[in-house]
Amino acid sequence: MSAHVAPGAPVPDVFDPRQYGQGVPHDRYRHLRDHHPVAWQEEPEVLGWPAGPGFWAVTRHEDVVRVLKDSATYSSYLGATQIRDPDPADLPFIRRMMLNQDPPHHRRLRVLVSRAFTPKRVDRFAEVVRERARSLLTGAVAEARSGDGTCDLVARVTDDYALLNLTDLLGVPDTDRALLLHWTRRVIGYQDPDEAGTPSLGPDGAPVDPRSPSSLRDMFDYAHALAAHKRRHPADDVLTALATDPELTAPELEMFFFLLVVAGNDTVRSAAPGGLHLLAENPEAYGRLRDGEAGFMGAVDELLRRHPPVLTFRRTAREDTLLADTRIRAGDKVVVFHASANHDERVFPTPFTLNLTRTPNPHVSFGDGPHVCLGAHFARLQLRVLYEEACHVLPASLEPAGSPGRLVSNFINGLKSLPVRVGGAW
Ligand code: HEM
Repeated sequence: MSAHVAPGAPVPDVFDPRQYGQGVPHDRYRHLRDHHPVAWQEEPEVLGWPAGPGFWAVTRHEDVVRVLKDSATYSSYLGATQIRDPDPADLPFIRRMMLNQDPPHHRRLRVLVSRAFTPKRVDRFAEVVRERARSLLTGAVAEARSGDGTCDLVARVTDDYALLNLTDLLGVPDTDRALLLHWTRRVIGYQDPDEAGTPSLGPDGAPVDPRSPSSLRDMFDYAHALAAHKRRHPADDVLTALATDPELTAPELEMFFFLLVVAGNDTVRSAAPGGLHLLAENPEAYGRLRDGEAGFMGAVDELLRRHPPVLTFRRTAREDTLLADTRIRAGDKVVVFHASANHDERVFPTPFTLNLTRTPNPHVSFGDGPHVCLGAHFARLQLRVLYEEACHVLPASLEPAGSPGRLVSNFINGLKSLPVRVGGAW
């Protein structure tokens, strides 16, 4: 946790992505919830990225839910959904993505993807997902046993697990899987030099936004080539369903592909090690899960509450409005903080306790309102199976073997490494 914040202190900064490399700034969030529930944040230049106009940080659960549900006032379309303002020239392009639309237009795209993404299709992957979890975890344990008893669960298990499950569901051939990892690292990890490498610079010397059309051309070309292949060789996967849907236009298909690749990979890639880390840190909870005293479904949600993969989403006020007695002007950026809402004492008793049987558990890790996560069923399935197999395959004693490596990002709560020590009886 971050350093303690004194009650009368100025409004703490929760924007700077570098602090998230050290951990989620829960003390700062708490101070904001208690004293400035809708707090103005400066957006200075950071890591070579230009300064922005600033935004409102919304940290209480009640207000976060309100913003997410009220899409008439808090728009996903006007300025899209990331804190950083897109280049105005790129905005029309970015707005083609369903994530960056408002009802009623959003509805049409949502219905189209939902048709390709049915729970029935997702459930058909359960056995493949289980087999993958088992073999990755078994490999990690073998490595730990043949060495010093430790292994990195991100490198050995969770990165591959998230990526391969997604590529199976989408129908991306094995040979092209590395491409997907490359794209999501570029788009999501752009604030972290370890992930994205050195950013390419535009003619003005500023880094090129990884979400601009020019940066995404290779991914879109690939989506088209794959869609053409699926039309010739249909299979039981999401890309075939999208490619053969007569109502879907070619630009819509490109955008879906982009959205599913980034939304479906990095989130599970964060949730899976985040959950395992919490279990390693909480041996009592891990024991109760292994003994069957706590159910896996509830555990998935509690682990997601404590480690939400998404840290922020942005909206733009369509009109002047009031939120928690704070006047917000039309055009202001309004950013919700999921990890803060999930630890709001007003809603969750003892929010920092990992209580795998917590009920109710109205966490907002999957968002709320019209954009609530479309992949939640697939994500929950993957996480449940991973924890079930972890309880079978990993030994009784699972301990952190050092601090996890954290992603430098104010968007994704990513873990880049998770060293653990595995030992004891099975
Ligand atoms: C634990 C894993 C996941 C978490 C925590 C998560 C979180 C979220 C959140 C918070 C949103 C709402 C965005 C907003 O408010 O603007 C969202 C939307 C979305 N998610 Fe997920 N997600 C996860 C996994 C997935 C997976 C596996 C997929 C697909 C394969 C997926 C696909 C989507 C899509 C398509 C949307 C956009 C929905 C819309 O705009 O209507 N997500 N997700």
